[in-house]
Amino acid sequence: MESEHKKLSDTITGVHEHLKRSLFFTKDANKVWQNHIEDENLRKTYSSAMLKLATEIWSGKECRIEWTYNTCREYFYNGGLQKSLSREMKLKQISSQTNKEWCLGNLTSNDYENMKCKLKLLDVGSCYNPFAKFEEFSCVAIDLTPGTEDVVQCDFLSIDILPQTNYAVPLSTTLTFHEKSFDIVVFSLVLTYLPATEQRTVFCFKAWQLLKLHGLLIIISPDSKSLHHNIPMVKSWKQALENIGFVRVKYDKLSHLQCMAFRKCRTHSEFDVASCVSLAHLLYTPQDNKIYEEDVCDDVGDREDDDFVCKQFSELPFVS
Ligand SMILES: C[S@@+](CC[C@H](N)C(=O)[O-])C[C@H]1O[C@@H](n2cnc3c(N)ncnc32)[C@H](O)[C@@H]1O
Repeated sequence: MESEHKKLSDTITGVHEHLKRSLFFTKDANKVWQNHIEDENLRKTYSSAMLKLATEIWSGKECRIEWTYNTCREYFYNGGLQKSLSREMKLKQISSQTNKEWCLGNLTSNDYENMKCKLKLLDVGSCYNPFAKFEEFSCVAIDLTPGTEDVVQCDFLSIDILPQTNYAVPLSTTLTFHEKSFDIVVFSLVLTYLPATEQRTVFCFKAWQLLKLHGLLIIISPDSKSLHHNIPMVKSWKQALENIGFVRVKYDKLSHLQCMAFRKCRTHSEFDVASCVSLAHLLYTPQDNKIYEEDVCDDVGDREDDDFVCKQFSELPFVS
């Protein structure tokens, strides 16, 4: 089982490395991505490996899925949203009665605890729709290369986001996205798939556009280092998301994962999808600075074992 596990992890980290290496030499994120879109065989190999890893090898150890589910339940149904709003009010030192009433009045109309409808969840880079099993969620699962039939093929980087509608959108065979239409957007192990920091920023900005006010963005990223090792990076990501229009409501470092939840706290942003890339430098990962050598073969599976990126996926299954 362990060698099968290593083979699957190698396939996954090999694709991540291949993308980063291509970006290092071309310095052209659009070209790297376009080539990746055209390389269907490589994407399908990745997708099968990811599906097997997640559903067979990590089976019963889905701590990222459980963390997301528990965080959403706590936030929407058990007072988390109210707590976050009160904290924000205190921080801003809002003392006038008028303002307090406005905030609490607004909260009542967003009072999920009394709502019977399901939370609308968009799972980006879903692979196998792992949130469909929870009855609290109505899931839209998308992926560049779906692993299962209930996931819709879609490149989140290139989706158009249409204005908000107040009427029911007619059923259509093509997926359309509207502003302020989701309660939850999930990026589970997907931001580190993207080789360029600009692409990660576009992801986060689009999530902000799609979320309703007070909606939740969940970001799960692999990180096998100790609690304190990547604190500068975690702070930097927080800063980027605050600039876009989020406030962080929860952060946990699990043994092999960074888990973060952000609330959309504003309906207006100074950015648009083009200008948000000015925040790209903040959404870095330690491996973005890796120096690649021209003559080293980058075949999938041919990498240094002690490399941080390679270790992430092979260590994940041992999370309890
Ligand atoms: C490591 S897998 C994570 C799968 C799943 N979210 C999980 O936590 O098990 C990353 C997934 O993101 C998908 N992905 C990467 N870029 C994407 C994009 N631009 N749009 C949609 N999906 C994307 C990949 O195809 C891949 O299935």
